[in-house]
Amino acid sequence: MKKVTCTAPVNIAVIKYWGKRNEELILPINSSLSVTLHQDQLKTTTTVAANRDFPEDRIWLNGKEDNINHPRLQSCLREIRRLARKRRSSGDDNISKILNYKVHICSVNNFPTAAGLASSAAGYACLVYSLARLYGVEGELSEIARQGSGSACRSMYGGFVQWIMGEREDGKDSLAQQVEPENHWPELRILILVASAEKKHVGSTAGMQTSVKTSPLLKHRAESVVPGRMEEMIEAIKKKDFEAFGQLTMKDSNQFHATCLDTYPPIFYLNQVSQRIIGLVHRYNAYYGTTKIAYSFDAGPNAVIFTLDPTVNEFVEIVKRSFPPESNGDPYLKGLAVSPVSLSQDLLSAVETDVFPGGVSYVIVTQPGPGPMESQDISVDLLGTDGFPNA
Ligand code: DP6
Repeated sequence: MKKVTCTAPVNIAVIKYWGKRNEELILPINSSLSVTLHQDQLKTTTTVAANRDFPEDRIWLNGKEDNINHPRLQSCLREIRRLARKRRSSGDDNISKILNYKVHICSVNNFPTAAGLASSAAGYACLVYSLARLYGVEGELSEIARQGSGSACRSMYGGFVQWIMGEREDGKDSLAQQVEPENHWPELRILILVASAEKKHVGSTAGMQTSVKTSPLLKHRAESVVPGRMEEMIEAIKKKDFEAFGQLTMKDSNQFHATCLDTYPPIFYLNQVSQRIIGLVHRYNAYYGTTKIAYSFDAGPNAVIFTLDPTVNEFVEIVKRSFPPESNGDPYLKGLAVSPVSLSQDLLSAVETDVFPGGVSYVIVTQPGPGPMESQDISVDLLGTDGFPNA
């Protein structure tokens, strides 16, 4: 039996992907750009094993067997095997042999699935990377991850990553590319304010299909807004210009949610808590007269906050006061340590409105991080020596 365990990160788009021009190949109507989050806080771990004795391909997700015949899963398996056959170094008997074996795949997230935390991106990135390691394939893999879930192609790299939409009908030029590595902007901090750990209502795949069919605003966005924003965003990142980065991030998130409202029937991802967070961020920035905090929301109510160290300490304190924890014993702050600070009366009266207890259930503090990697630690393997999930 050959066995490999890898981990892959979550990414958060600051220029959003929303809408496909080809459903099967997952080709987008606009380019997008994201920040890869650090795997110390959020990651998927996947073990893949190939064995002569496995009668069929099988997959277990977060402790439960899942359907291996899911078309997107099948696309990834087929494409990676195709690439492995093509690239297999002539004479490498081991690879040739395991290419004829069936695989077992076991995958877990260290964060709640379907909480709007981009679990499919980390999941498919991890699957594709793990299979590539199993078959000894190197090089460009984002084209395959893209066929699992569009946003997954951006999780194939660390740091700041763009997904270039491409033009070709076969999707060969619709690829992810690193803009800057994870250590480029060391002060950048990312907070995830978990407003709801419940499953989202309208999934991204279905939501964006309806938007493409019905929203004239989405068409305008893809054709006339995003191309310019991509350039501005890349420049802001390269210059580490937080003012420009933050403003573009917020405007792009707002426009994405505007296209959701422009969809017919409309889709609402933001809830009351999300809207309060938006208000809080703008009052905070207005108090300082500059953009020190930015928000972004995906297909769910959780807020992703971008800021710099040491502003992160003050903002976390404000979030805690505005959305005090309803004590259920779980820690309110997870991830990187923040230093307690005292807030001036001035600042408090400028930013605070009513408190909303329990509005934010917890906060994950993280930073940009690296792309997928193979684990050398066999104690994290999810499949045992028999090739079945460890209890
Ligand atoms: C709002 O990548 O989940 O998070 O390609 O259909 O799997 P599929 O959709 P998915 O969509 C992500 C949408 C988003 C924005 C983004 O990540 O760019």
